[in-house]
This record gives sequence, structure tokens and C-alpha cells, in this order.
Amino acid sequence: MAAVAAVAERRRRAQPGMVLLCLGACLGMTLAVDRSNFKTCDESSFCKRQRSVRPGLSPYRALLDTLQLGPDGLTVHLINEATKVLLVLQLQGLQKNMTRIRIDELEPRRPRYRVPDVLVADPPTARLSVSGRDDNSVELTVAEGPYKVILTAQPFRLDLLEERSLLLSVNARGLLHLEHQRAPRVSFSDKVSVTLRSIWDKIRSLFARQGSKDPAEGGGAQAEDTAGDGDQPQPEETPEKAEPEESGAWEETFKTHSDSKPYGPTSVGLDFSLPGMEHVYGIPEHGDNLRLKVTEGGEPYRLYNLDVFQYELYNPMALYGSVPVLLAHSPQRDLGIFWLNAAETWVDISSNTAGKTLFGKMLDYLQGSGETPQTDVRWMSESGIIDVFLLLGSTVTDVFRQYASLTGTQALPPLFSLGYHQSRWNYRDEADVLDVDQGFDDHNLPCDVIWLDIEHADGKRYFTWDPSRFPQPLTMLDQLAAKRRKLVTIVDPHIKVDSGYRVHEELRNQGLYVKTRDGSDYEGWCWPGSAGYPDFTNPSMRAWWANMFSFDNYEGSAPNLYVWNDMNEPSVFNGPEVTMLKDAQHYGGWEHRDVHNIYGFYVHMATAEGLVLRSGGVERPFVLSRAFFAGSQRFGAVWTGDNAAEWDHLKISIPMCLSLGLVGLSFCGADVGGFFKNPEPELLVRWYQMGAYQPFFRAHAHLDTGRREPWLLATQYHDIIREVLNQRYSLLPFWYTLFYQAHREGVPVMRPLWVQYPQDVTTFSIDDQFLLGDALLVHPVSDAGAHGVQVYLPGQGEVWYDTQSYQKHHGPQTLYLPVTLNSIPVYQRGGSIVPRWMRVRRSSDCMKEDPITLFVALSPQGTAQGELFLDDGHTFNYQTRQEFLLRRFSFSGNTLVSSSADSQGHFETPVWIERVVIIGAGKPAAVVLHTKGSPESRLSFQHDPETSVLTLRKPGVNVASDWSIHLR
Ligand code: NOJ
Repeated sequence: MAAVAAVAERRRRAQPGMVLLCLGACLGMTLAVDRSNFKTCDESSFCKRQRSVRPGLSPYRALLDTLQLGPDGLTVHLINEATKVLLVLQLQGLQKNMTRIRIDELEPRRPRYRVPDVLVADPPTARLSVSGRDDNSVELTVAEGPYKVILTAQPFRLDLLEERSLLLSVNARGLLHLEHQRAPRVSFSDKVSVTLRSIWDKIRSLFARQGSKDPAEGGGAQAEDTAGDGDQPQPEETPEKAEPEESGAWEETFKTHSDSKPYGPTSVGLDFSLPGMEHVYGIPEHGDNLRLKVTEGGEPYRLYNLDVFQYELYNPMALYGSVPVLLAHSPQRDLGIFWLNAAETWVDISSNTAGKTLFGKMLDYLQGSGETPQTDVRWMSESGIIDVFLLLGSTVTDVFRQYASLTGTQALPPLFSLGYHQSRWNYRDEADVLDVDQGFDDHNLPCDVIWLDIEHADGKRYFTWDPSRFPQPLTMLDQLAAKRRKLVTIVDPHIKVDSGYRVHEELRNQGLYVKTRDGSDYEGWCWPGSAGYPDFTNPSMRAWWANMFSFDNYEGSAPNLYVWNDMNEPSVFNGPEVTMLKDAQHYGGWEHRDVHNIYGFYVHMATAEGLVLRSGGVERPFVLSRAFFAGSQRFGAVWTGDNAAEWDHLKISIPMCLSLGLVGLSFCGADVGGFFKNPEPELLVRWYQMGAYQPFFRAHAHLDTGRREPWLLATQYHDIIREVLNQRYSLLPFWYTLFYQAHREGVPVMRPLWVQYPQDVTTFSIDDQFLLGDALLVHPVSDAGAHGVQVYLPGQGEVWYDTQSYQKHHGPQTLYLPVTLNSIPVYQRGGSIVPRWMRVRRSSDCMKEDPITLFVALSPQGTAQGELFLDDGHTFNYQTRQEFLLRRFSFSGNTLVSSSADSQGHFETPVWIERVVIIGAGKPAAVVLHTKGSPESRLSFQHDPETSVLTLRKPGVNVASDWSIHLR
């Protein structure tokens, strides 16, 4: 039944042409997006207009006599010499080595959208003072910052310098282009009506002046004037000021969709030059390599949250989420650019070294003939203001912290959500869910969560249950709770238009849906058929939604039920580019155009708030979202959407998640096994091996695929998957600690190698391996039939230990490692300490009080450090009551010391240290344990001379206590 329904739905959803592709998929062909469904830059009129602005001809001049300096920074007017339109520039020095630049029209016809709710607070400013001036420039010094800003009046540009070196320039290429709002284009019929209207207005004002009653009173023109407008600002009709029409400026059609553009062209664009920079990263989400490519002569990277059916890899097309943050890296310096704009955005990248070989660059260098390498980045957005944060580093960790201080850090996930998640579209009914749950126990596999997709709800009416297939959800949830497992249900933000559905009725009656331009409820086509789209930009809507997750409102839900928000780009099957019309109306009179990229962020926010609220603010939420924006890290996890069971999709999960981690979203994963198509067993095994070492670990599959719970594979494969799951579960204390560090400091959990080895040029383009924290290096096998992999072990003077064989390797080197289907090449850095749980049980909740084993990998100097975070695993008590432990372990001089890394935290726990494994150690004569207040005691140990592994048994100390172990 479900399968038939879903095929029908997919057909309904399919655009012409997609049906054919879908047939291809069913026949096992490689999947491909229908590109014609999505705009190129040329088909997006503002992108085309912006791109037609050529470098070197900037019409902007800063009017230095308007310059004002106050505690909040500097303002100065900019004039466009061609149009004489004035802009206002606001420049702020911010604390922590950041600068903010905002540019808006001085006198806009209508206010422009300024993105709310993304910044966690108003960033504290650092005082600016004028330290030099001449006819054409002003030099500004930033208090508490090592840098200066030089503002050049004509042509307008800003240069940021540290000491004497230029860090970054703004508008150096003269690509600032802000389309000021203007009088609407007037067609002949408009002209007639405007002329009639102005005659009418004159008659009215004549009556008014004579103190007579307005002839319009009682209906007619007055009513017509305001019909459908609500309190939305409307464009003024001043035809005399109308300017020549530009292509697509006042109306744009794409395929059969027309965008009415009542406010005309409003786009903004600006360029940034980064001298000394050759490597740039970030601006997810794209199915592309980690290191960004030069886009000149091709398509720019696009940021526009879209539901892309069967997305293709290695191209800059937009996907489900957008984070407008770019990182630039060189061995000397790291910088970031955060472009805070929620409208459709395109990013062009050019470089003066693009296309030059390494040899060519070296030759230039030796001959002293090469110019300094430079990358130029140009941002173009359809509406809003220019609001940009320059994150001046200097190290990449500084950039992470700077960005985190603006938009917040990764929410600390509940421990269970770091375990394994079993999902598919769809588990049929309650019996099926419980069978799957039992399957994990029967096959001795750990699992924390089972997921229910859209078929669980009654006719895709979210917050309800299909009465025949899920008649007793609470009993089912209870049975899972007895196994200490959870359930996740999907709750999408499109609401079935059905007068018998309470959710719809309330939203309609309270006016909480997004509206069309004429003020009626916007309706689009999605899974349930005709659907309304709640206006999540409205705080009242979010409060209403959050309240829906109370146990009373969401009947059949229980504390072990968590939530998945899908389709929140938003996906509208019959909309332009499978999303909402840009002239749809949101809260505050804003157009969908202004808020598109932040819609999904708000859905995620409201759902996470709902889960917090339902527990009275005690429990941490878990919400997975497909769409995201800057700041989404505060609300939970994201995944890379509808990938396919293909080797290239397995590979791309690394750079896709690394890119997200670089811009704050650490809790990322890809559908294990691939969403579309059926993976062959080898691919499925390799995908489990990959997923086990990525932050969010969930198997998921399309409705039309075969069942693929691990035990359905032949024994040799499912034994390997058991081993993989065991590795994941034993590393949970390490994962949990990494997430705490990400939450506390804003550093990514999963890291590109260059983040830890910023000087090592070889690492700058690596995206087939990654680091977890600074301790583990993972090189998953992602090729069919692989017999070996080339692993790059970085770091001059660094040593790396194979976590299986304990074999030691020196960095830097490229190591050929023979592999079998069993192998997951993972190395622990000498100098790190990794905590593990060695008894894998049914779920993480069953393990959280288990004893810890410390894996101490010694550096060549015989040292190592590591941390361990522990709390109850699910509440905010770590924050509100300081109920946590952050322990630091440090090994040097043959002594391992455990101390508190945060004396604020206290947490009573039965967890104890059951073993210490020291890798790279000689054999001691004796091992002695010291604890406060107890006599010293001898520990039994075992030393393996072949691997140099020393295992200390049963120190038996509580994890919260201070102790030291001495090798003698
Ligand atoms: C699209 C999501 O990306 C996919 O994961 C889900 O299974 C389907 N929607 C159905 O809800």
C-alpha cells in the first residue's frame, strides 16, 4: 500500500522529464538532476545584472564631509556618480578582531530586510578613531585590535591592514552594486489608471480643503485602494520618476512561473580581495570538493535552499541549506567573510594563480616575477542590505571562535543522538518497528533510534498517526523505552489543507500561514496534496508550533520521541524551482524573496524550542533538519539530503560534512547506504564504515529500495557491520567530549587536515580523509574493490598509531595501506588521549555509566593530553546546575595525571577508570597509582614488546577524582 501510494506521490511530485529519470533510477542507471528545473546565473535576472558589472569602473565615491564617528562606529555617505543615488555605509570595529560593514540606501523607498535572529547578541564594538587623513582617504585605528582600516573616497574602497600588510580589501575591484529602489515600471494600462488616480486624488484633496465629506467614503476607491494590502508597505506610484527598465527587473518568468517583483530590482553585490590567499572554503551546501574552485567563465556557487531531486556532484548548484560564510587560508593567515543576507545569493571566486601549475608558481617565485597570489570573492544577493562581518583571524581557530561569538555554537546533543540511527521511508507499522528493534538485539547490534517517515502520519497530517498502522503509538514508545531506545517522527512544515484537520484550521483561523501577494493563504503542492505553509518568520507562529509538541497537543508522543524536520527549504512541488513564489508575503510585510534562506532555520528553531518546552526546559532536544542557515547549529543536526547508493556519493559525504563543520554545523551526516537505489553489499559495508566516523550516523533509504537492515546481508557482511557499530559505540565518550568542545568553543568536531596542519600545503586540498578533533585521523575506503589506500599522515615530527595494529608511522608521509573489506584506516596521533567504553551494549543509554578505558598514544617526546566530558547525557543541568565533569588527562615524565579542567563542574557518577592503554611505551619495572587521601598502590600491567603497548589494569579510580599513575 505505502509503496503504491509513494510511487503515485512521486509521479505527482515529478516535473515532466523527472518520470523518465526515475525510470532510469529503477533500472539502476546513474541518477542525474534535471538541470533545467533550476536557474543558472543567466536565468536569474539579478545575478546576470550583477555579473554584468565589470571590474575597474566603480561609480561610487565616499563623501568624506559626511563622515561621522561615534561610539557605534563610523557612518559615511557614498554617492553613485552615475545615478546620484546616496548610500550610507556603517563601519564598526568589533571586539575579537572583527569588522562589520553595512551598506543601505540613505533614503530607501521601502525599508530593506535586515536579517534578525541569526546573531546571538549585538556584537560588542571596539572604538574606532581617525589616525590619519588626506583629501582622498581616512585612516582609522581600531581600539584593542592590531589592524587599521583605510577608507579611500574615490573610487570608494576599504583596505584592512595589519602592521604593514594588507589583509583584505573591499570594493577593490569596484563591483559594489546596490540596485536602489525606484518608481515602478509603468505599462500603458498602468499609466491610464495612474493618471485617472491622480485626477481622482486631486478632486479628493479639493473636497478635503473645502471641508467637505470625502466622496470615496462608504466604499469605492478607498476600499479598492487598500484591498488585500493589509499593513504591507506598497510601492509608491510616481511614474514621473520611473527609470528605464532592466531585463527581468520588474517581472521575471522561469518556466511557467512568474515572479511579479512589485518592488523592482533590489539586488546588492560587493567584492572582497584577499591578497596572499589561494585556498578558500565554506559557503555550503554544495555537492562539491572541500576547496572552492574558481568560478570565472562558469557558474558561481549558488546559495538558495532547494529540494533538488537526484542532485549531481561536483558542481556549484544550490542544495537544501545555505551558510554564507567563506574561509580563506594560507600558511600565514586565516580569514573569514560572513555575508549576512537571507535572500538568494551567488558567489563568484577568481584568483590570479588559477590554472598555474605548482611548477609554474615555483618558477615565478624563483625568478621573483610572480605577483602575490590573490583570491577575489564577489557576493551577489537579490535583496536586503549589505551586512558583512570580516573575521580577521589570525588563526583558523580564531576565525571559528569569532564566527561562534556571532551566531552561537553547536547545541550539545543528547548522548543518544550520537549513537546509531535506523531509518527508512517507511517502517510499515508498529509491529514492523518493534521487529526492527528486536532485530538489533537478536543480532547483537547496538542501536539508539528508530525513525518514522511520512507514512506514519494519518494522510500526511503531521502530529497525527495513521490509525490502522499506528493505533497504539504510546505502547510502541513504551516498548522502545524499555529497551532504552528512542523514536524519531517526521514533522514537515507543509500542512494539509483539510477543514477536518485541527492544525490546518487553527493556522488558517489565526492567519499564521504565508500569504500570496493578494493576501490570501498561499497554497502549494507537497506530500499531502494541497498544503499551506506556516509562516515561521512570525514569532507567534513559532510559539504556536513549539506548543504543538507538548504531550497533550501531540497525542501519542512521549519523552522518548524526537523530531525530524524535512522539506523545509521550503519544498513546493509545483513552485518555481520546487520552492515558494518569491512574491509570497511574510510577517512584517516582507516578501519570500527576502527571507527564503532563513525559512528552514526558523522551522528548526521552533521545533527545537517545542521539545525543550514540553519538558519544562529540562531536557535537551534532538531535531534533524534538511534546510539550514547561519546559526542553525544552535538547534541540532543536519544531513546532506537525498544522496544515492553510488560510490561518488559515499566520497562526497566527506567534503560536504567538512564544509558544514567549518561554518559551525558540526552535527552533520549523510544517509548511510545512499537514499536512492540499492547499494551492493560492499558499498553498504563501506558506507557503514564511513558513517560510523561521521558525526550524525543514520542509515536511511527511499521507499522504493529494498530493505537493508544490517542482518539482511550475508553473515560475512553483517559481522563487519557489527564490528563497525561496536567501534562507534566504544568511541562515544570521545564523540561526546568533541561535541562538548564544539559547543563550548565553536571548533568543528570533524576537521579538514589543514585546520590542524595549517602550514602543510599538501593538506589544503585533501578531502578523502579527515580528523576527529585533533586525535584521530580517518581515511575511509570509498572505492569499489579497493585493495589499498594512500593515507597522508601529516605533521613534521608527528607520529601516528594504527588503531588496530598499533603500528607506528612518522609524519609527514603518504603511506600505502593494504585493505580488506574489514579495514577502516584510523590512526591515533601520538600525543593524544582517547577515552572509550569497551563493553558495547544495546544502546548508549545502557552504557553511560560503564567504566572508561583511556588510550594514551605517546608523542616522540613521551607526552600526551586529552579530555573527557561527562554529564547525565540528556538535560540542561550541565548548564543550569553545573552538573558535569570535564577531566583533563596529561602524560609526561612517565606520569599520567587526571585533573579537573573546569572546577565549576561537579557531577556524581559511578563511572570509573578500568584500564589505561599506553601506546608507544617501554616496559616499566613497576606502576604505581596515587589518589588523594589513599596510600599509593601498585597496578598490575602487561607489556607487549612487539607493539610497545603497555596495558594497566584496573586503576579502579572514580572518573571524577584526581589521581596520578607513575611508570617506574
Ligand atoms: C525527502 C527526504 O530528503 C527523505 O529523507 C525522506 O525520506 C522523504 N522526503 C520522504 O519524507
